[in-house]
Amino acid sequence: MKKLGKRVALLIAAAAMCACSTTAQTEQNATELTPEQQAAYENIMTRTSIRSWEDKAVEPAKVEMLLRAGMAAPTAVNRQPWHFVVLDKRESIDLLASGRGGGMVRKAPLAIVVCGDMTKALEGDAREFWVQDASAATENILLAANAIGLGAVWTGAYPIGDRVNGIREALGLGEHLVPLCAILIGYPHEHPTPKDKWKPENVTYK
Ligand SMILES: Cc1cc2nc3c(=O)[nH]c(=O)nc-3n(C[C@H](O)[C@H](O)[C@H](O)COP(=O)(O)O)c2cc1C
Repeated sequence: MKKLGKRVALLIAAAAMCACSTTAQTEQNATELTPEQQAAYENIMTRTSIRSWEDKAVEPAKVEMLLRAGMAAPTAVNRQPWHFVVLDKRESIDLLASGRGGGMVRKAPLAIVVCGDMTKALEGDAREFWVQDASAATENILLAANAIGLGAVWTGAYPIGDRVNGIREALGLGEHLVPLCAILIGYPHEHPTPKDKWKPENVTYK
């Protein structure tokens, strides 16, 4: 009887060891990425705000790639309640310069103002989903910029009333358009190290 107990204990220990090594194997497999997967992940991890650019225009084909990336973002009920105002001429970009960060604006070769279009927004409480939708589009544009050799910074407008009205007036936007932000974009003249924001204490597993 004692012998049998020992055997059972050994079997349980072996099973536990086996389970552990399977977990370790799975963990290892999970981080073994294809080059494409690695590149896509690296693009997210290397994005950083760029506030200084080469004096070089962004080609129209690249501008369209950025816009396509923005419009590929998820939106609540697929409503796509947005409008993108592209400022690709010096005099148009400079219209934004009267607001905060004017010096940086005057040096940006391209700006995309991401707006919520209230004629396309959901009704009632769900109306404010436009902010999340337009933010998802903005992040997609920032990531696409990084992927295609550009550098960009999100300069916030909404919900700060003065900034929203300032951009609206400067660009002559209708009342139905709410500028969430102006993304300033160009070929980077600086290459800052991405910030390490990994903070395990900001995560809870349940
Ligand atoms: C909602 C929002 C508003 C922002 N507004 C500005 C801004 O007005 N000017 C600016 O230089 N950067 C602005 N940023 C960029 C942040 O400063 C930047 O993302 C943050 O410092 C983290 O740095 P990283 O983008 O390099 O990771 C904004 C970012 C967000 C998300």
